[in-house]
Amino acid sequence: MSLELEPFWMPFTHNRMFKKSPRLIERGEGMHYQTSDGHRVLDAISGLWCSNAGHRHPKIVQAVKDQLDELDFTAPFQSGHPKAFMLAEAIKKISPAGLNHVFLTSSGSEACDTALKIALAYHHSTGEVQRTRFVGHEKGYHGVGFGGISVGGIDANKKAFKASLLPGTLHLPHTHNLSKMAFSKGQPV
Ligand SMILES: Cc1ncc(COP(=O)(O)O)c(C=O)c1O
Repeated sequence: MSLELEPFWMPFTHNRMFKKSPRLIERGEGMHYQTSDGHRVLDAISGLWCSNAGHRHPKIVQAVKDQLDELDFTAPFQSGHPKAFMLAEAIKKISPAGLNHVFLTSSGSEACDTALKIALAYHHSTGEVQRTRFVGHEKGYHGVGFGGISVGGIDANKKAFKASLLPGTLHLPHTHNLSKMAFSKGQPV
């Protein structure tokens, strides 16, 4: 198979370097991947936590196939799909008391930006419109949306966007502080 690598702009990847020597993964089964040059590789981070039950778990494969046979997509605006309600109820059941509503998103970045918006909208609706400050953590990662990189504490992710980030966002010091950890020895700085 001849593959044109240029059009796909890869996130968090040195594109020029990757495309000189691409590492392509073609298949997966259980805890292993198979690369295009035939190597079996242990997927030690469960597909960046997206395939925690293992790759191509038969039950998940079957459920996805069954769903595609029934309905591929319906918008959640002014109409709804019964299974979205079932999922929300299932999440509510395993959540701590008081966490009883679920807003579904498609990614962690979208989830973080949505959570920030819900917090602002809550204070707006109770009349406390002045409550707009967010507090994050140095080195925290909350995705790549504008809200997420604002409350996040990774400077490299903010570099090109500093002038456009959420104003008034504060960051607590990172808990990993070697100079103040008298009993930490031999850790990388
Ligand atoms: C705490 C947290 N927020 C946001 C994200 C971003 O998720 P996504 O890559 O799905 O946008 C991650 C992903 O690792 C995360 O761990």
